Amino acid sequence: MKVTLPFLAFPFGTHAAPLLTLTRCLSSSAPNLRFSFLNSAKSNAKVFSKIKPDDYRNIKPCNVDNGIPEDHVFSGHPLEAVELFLRAMPRNFENGLKEVVANTGTKITCLFTGFVLLVCGRYGGRNGRSMGGALDCLAVFCFCPYVHRCHSNEHNTCEGLTRRSHTWEFRRTILTNATQNGTHDARKATALAMNAFEEIDPTVTKDLKSKLKMVLNVGPFDLASPPKSYSDDSGCIRWLDRHEPASVAYLSFGTILTPPPNELIALAQALEAQKVPFLWSFRDTSKLHLLEAFLQRTSTQGKVVPWTPQLQVLENSSVGVFITHAGWNSVSESIAGGVPMICRPFFADQMLNSRLVVDIWQIGASVEGGTFTKSGTMRALEIVFSSEKGKKMKENIGVLKAKAKMAVGENGSSTKNFKTLLKVVSGCEEIP
Ligand SMILES: *[C@@H]1O[C@H](CO)[C@@H](O)[C@H](O)[C@H]1NC(C)=O
Ligand SMILES: *[C@@H]1O[C@H](CO)[C@@H](O)[C@H](O)[C@H]1NC(C)=O
Ligand SMILES: *[C@@H]1O[C@H](CO)[C@@H](O)[C@H](O)[C@H]1NC(C)=O
Ligand SMILES: *[C@@H]1O[C@H](CO)[C@@H](O)[C@H](O)[C@H]1NC(C)=O
Repeated sequence: MKVTLPFLAFPFGTHAAPLLTLTRCLSSSAPNLRFSFLNSAKSNAKVFSKIKPDDYRNIKPCNVDNGIPEDHVFSGHPLEAVELFLRAMPRNFENGLKEVVANTGTKITCLFTGFVLLVCGRYGGRNGRSMGGALDCLAVFCFCPYVHRCHSNEHNTCEGLTRRSHTWEFRRTILTNATQNGTHDARKATALAMNAFEEIDPTVTKDLKSKLKMVLNVGPFDLASPPKSYSDDSGCIRWLDRHEPASVAYLSFGTILTPPPNELIALAQALEAQKVPFLWSFRDTSKLHLLEAFLQRTSTQGKVVPWTPQLQVLENSSVGVFITHAGWNSVSESIAGGVPMICRPFFADQMLNSRLVVDIWQIGASVEGGTFTKSGTMRALEIVFSSEKGKKMKENIGVLKAKAKMAVGENGSSTKNFKTLLKVVSGCEEIP
């Protein structure tokens, strides 16, 4: 019987896109295997619209229940949809897997879970029998590889995750419970693939390898498999080209949230006062009215667009700083572009990523007090653009960028790990 390799995606933020990138890399290197990509309908529509059908011939999108009850009225809380989805788990994925089996007449012997380590805990090893056979469970971390640190108190970088001052009390959500159990459940995984590279922190790599069965850093995914083409409908790249090297501030806070109104205004005031050219990826256009007067005054200084080809923006030499929520993909792309950051983390792994960027790797600054104020943001811009410390940040991130490029190069660590992963995946195909 033929085998399908299912990938289980977490459909929020930018988790699904990098998992699909990894799925595509594997599927194009193993054209005879079948893959399915389980994700919410909305997220599947989004991530598959960005790639060409030729790029995913042996990957079948499969939509799972998003947990939103019929007639549900959203309260406006930014994380409501996330919680509903997590409550629907793992039943929604189980149903999706059953559908894959029924529709394709294939067998499942191995699961890939992106983020959803709990699923691995449930189905790895003997527990997999409830799915009709023992399963190999492969976990994929598309974000911060440091979550495991928070289990032991030996590393003070854990503070970031447990800090009490979270804007939306994220600690209370199921998601936090799931990530805090990361190591616990990752131990059950046959292999853990990560969107990072070994040289980014050799100590952590060694530590993880000593604790888990197989640790494969195969990233940064974006660098390992850069998109063949990208769209630039709003002309950001052309706009960037008209600017001096390292002069532009690029701003984006990911797909889930927009900073609160007072912070948006403070940020705008700081950019205007410092006369920094800016490119702002502003997704929630319903909130743009908050900045109306600012945008009128700064129409020649900056450009605000609903979407950017972020990796290409960060790789363009005009960009001098990335003002970011410090989500793992953003940090990873900033490293790929060699652009220092100003971090304003909001929740989840962002606090921890921010501490790594600012204190450990010293490739960025945080804003004083943790929220955007006019004076705090001006100071952070000054540090990155015109201080000795800022110069050092640029140097440090240049070194990390070179290591990342090396890792995904011909004989690099990520390339070797990818080959190992491919062998593991091929082993999931039953020999007839
Ligand atoms: C998270 O875990 C704690 C302790 O185990 C529990 O009290 C809390 O209800 C859990 N939160 C959610 C949202 O499940
Ligand atoms: C996390 O792990 C602990 C200890 O093994 C367990 O008691 C708890 O139920 C787990 N929490 C979740 C949300 O899985
Ligand atoms: C920046 O973008 C412009 C326009 O596409 C391009 O000509 C230029 O080479 C880019 N610069 C870098 C360093 O990528
Ligand atoms: C990779 O290793 C092979 C064999 O040692 C060598 O011939 C080749 O030049 C190396 N490539 C790079 C880019 O270093």
